[in-house]
Amino acid sequence: MAETTTADARPAPAGAPWSEGVAAPVIDLAGVGKTYRTGAIEYEALRDIHLRIDEGEYVAIMGPSGSGKSTLMNLIGCLDTLTVGRYLLAGDDVADLDEVDLAEIRNRRIGFVFQQFHLLPSLAAWRNVELPLVYGHVPGPERRRRAVEALERVGLGSKLANRPGEMSGGQQQRVAVARALVGEPALILADEPTGNLDSTSSADVLGLFDELHAQGRTIVLITHELEVAQHARRIVRVRDGRIQSDEVNPR
Ligand SMILES: Nc1ncnc2c1ncn2[C@@H]1O[C@H](COP(=O)(O)OP(=O)(O)OP(=O)(O)O)[C@@H](O)[C@H]1O
Ligand SMILES: [Mg+2]
Repeated sequence: MAETTTADARPAPAGAPWSEGVAAPVIDLAGVGKTYRTGAIEYEALRDIHLRIDEGEYVAIMGPSGSGKSTLMNLIGCLDTLTVGRYLLAGDDVADLDEVDLAEIRNRRIGFVFQQFHLLPSLAAWRNVELPLVYGHVPGPERRRRAVEALERVGLGSKLANRPGEMSGGQQQRVAVARALVGEPALILADEPTGNLDSTSSADVLGLFDELHAQGRTIVLITHELEVAQHARRIVRVRDGRIQSDEVNPR
């Protein structure tokens, strides 16, 4: 019989497909709930969430402020843990993974983009972009090459040495997108990526997501704006911590 070694159980290298052969859904949440505890007070931010997202899908998550969208993204991105339910990520039960596995997944398989960019202000654009590769122990020269490539891809080849404070909001968000892309993650999670951008910069960032989707990446994008959600092929609406609707985007 085939031998299984611990090495075989390690996550696939960056850029490799998540699952070969019969594709398991990338994201499979069943009966998931999240309760926050603040002192003696409990708040049920998500309840009874059933959500499957297959490889290559482009899904928008919409809902009013406080409905649980970011909570859901934090669970999907393994940034927080479920209170109840089961989460299979590319077929692996997240509850069975230890902190090292989870860090590896967050670093190599998922690219995050946040509304507030989360760039380090003292670092040049390319230094910000190379960070996930530093954590992934990629050698220096290769890191620089890939960071430059990623910045060129988002149209910032002329801003490599600029710090975030020396760039416009739209440019900073494109640096953040380059950082999300540099490790070639299979899954991109974006929480209000255009929330702080003017319409031209929004269009640039959304155009990049459209390209990534065309290249087979799985994209989950949280937004308040229907115009932004229209880029996705499927729209999931969340209200009061529950999924209210889950529909193919007719466009
Ligand atoms: N760490 C926390 N501790 C306690 N309650 C929290 C915590 N994080 C979020 N909540 C609560 O959970 C609910 C959902 O929050 P969440 O951030 O997921 O909303 P959201 O849909 O992303 O809203 P927005 O559109 O304003 O970003 C809110 O009522 C919020 O106050
Ligand atoms: Mg939010």
